[in-house]
Amino acid sequence: MAGDPEGALVELRGITKRFPGGTLANDAIDLDLRRGEILALLGENGAGKSTLMGVLYGLLRPDAGEIRLRGEPVRFRSPRDAIRHGLGMVHQHFMLVPTFTVAENFVLGRPSPRWPLLEDRRAVAARIAGLARRHGLAVDPDARVDRLSVGQQQRVEILKALYRGAEILILDEPTAVLTPQEADELLAVLRGLAAAGRSVVFISHKLDEVLRVADRVAVLRDGRLVATLPAGSTSAPELGRLMVGREVRPSAAARSGERGEPRLVLESVAAADDRGVAALRGVDLRVHAGDIVGLAGVDGNGQRELEEVVAGLRPVLEGRVLLAGRDATAAPVRERLAAGLGYVPSDRHGRALLRDASLADNLVLERVGRSPFSRAGLLDRAAIARHARRLVAAFGVRPAAVDSPAGRLSGGNAQKLVLARALSRDPSVLLVCQPTRGVDLGAVERLHAEILRRLDAGAAILLISTELSEVMALADRILVLYEGRIAGERAGTAATAEELGPLMGGRRAEPARAA
Ligand SMILES: Nc1ncnc2c1ncn2[C@@H]1O[C@H](COP(=O)(O)OP(=O)(O)O)[C@@H](O)[C@H]1O
Ligand SMILES: [Mg+2]
Repeated sequence: MAGDPEGALVELRGITKRFPGGTLANDAIDLDLRRGEILALLGENGAGKSTLMGVLYGLLRPDAGEIRLRGEPVRFRSPRDAIRHGLGMVHQHFMLVPTFTVAENFVLGRPSPRWPLLEDRRAVAARIAGLARRHGLAVDPDARVDRLSVGQQQRVEILKALYRGAEILILDEPTAVLTPQEADELLAVLRGLAAAGRSVVFISHKLDEVLRVADRVAVLRDGRLVATLPAGSTSAPELGRLMVGREVRPSAAARSGERGEPRLVLESVAAADDRGVAALRGVDLRVHAGDIVGLAGVDGNGQRELEEVVAGLRPVLEGRVLLAGRDATAAPVRERLAAGLGYVPSDRHGRALLRDASLADNLVLERVGRSPFSRAGLLDRAAIARHARRLVAAFGVRPAAVDSPAGRLSGGNAQKLVLARALSRDPSVLLVCQPTRGVDLGAVERLHAEILRRLDAGAAILLISTELSEVMALADRILVLYEGRIAGERAGTAATAEELGPLMGGRRAEPARAA
């Protein structure tokens, strides 16, 4: 840099990107990245964050605008081009070859005719080890990637970017896949990188971590840059307001806490995963009427199997499932729904919705042959459409055209539809899985409020979510699932992330560290 430490390392000027179909994902965005800073890119789902960084990284061609790097206009034709200019990006989905070792992944795609000569391997491993030590990113260069935890794989991705000489590091929602402790460690690593003069773009929709780690925060909304603020002079409420364009209220309302009879009971339930490997190893749990139990945990610890066991989609190998006081261990899904189970599946596009059927028809699935949607054996189309318009409006499904196919909905809107359907059946037991995954922040609040409304109506609710803040906001009791077992239980109001995090990572709760 020509002697100006305050000057921008990267300047984005008037970046505009429209996707086929008409979405204006980036609308004339001006943004600077300075040397040695952490710039947070904050925005709801669909705000245009990944698109903007895709443009910077050479993955997407902008329709208009300019990128300057160290004052010089650049035009990256591919990520390879961007990497050559000192950029590195860690994507939401890692791009590592799982059956290769860490070191092998580092040299992948690089011209190295001598590889895999032994001295070359040693040199690579030594360089990795050096970088790892310097930046606090412990990994074993000889470990196979598929043996590493998600957090470790992410470190490999970061190291890989540094190994290739990245001065500018872009991380797209890096904490989404991490436990709270792993996220803390990552934030510390990023601070270290910035202190060492690297520049970091940190994409997130989580206000707290953005405030903790960033020097400056850029807020995107509907493809537009709505503000760029120093992190030190803003607050979570202000950022939340900028993100969604209105006031965000905390969702956990004062609740009565009345507990009725147990409506959903699991007794020593064992089940296997799709490969036949034990996935649930003796799970006991009990959800009472008016009670909301949250099941926290990192993805892949049996959540999916537990969900399916409760819904009736996966056989129980040992133990019992009781629904509304009756043994439902072997009951099929349809019977459980008839017995009052409301089910919001985690995999909504795969399982919950008929993609080719309209929103209206999807909203009356399972009830279509019955009153009030059917009279004298004929469908009452007007009643079905009225019902659909009411739910679509109440849950804010967009676009609201009730006769368009459900397959066109974005993930978040599909989720609103699934939740609307499940809640409109007045379930006495509600199984809600990942209810707000992929849903924009403004809608999260509304969905949470609707779930809590069922609670006030006396439903017994089991919430399975990998989003710890969601579990903490909603649940009266929090159970942590780890490797198919309940690793611990905490009262929802008293639980802290510091307490739950180690349980989620398979450790016993430690006394909270001094800050
Ligand atoms: N490849 C694509 N084709 C069409 N539309 C896209 C594509 N990628 C993103 N979009 C749309 O562009 C908008 C911005 O998306 P994105 O940049 O992924 O948002 P964010 O990363 O902030 O969640 C969204 O409306 C999204 O649906
Ligand atoms: Mg994104």
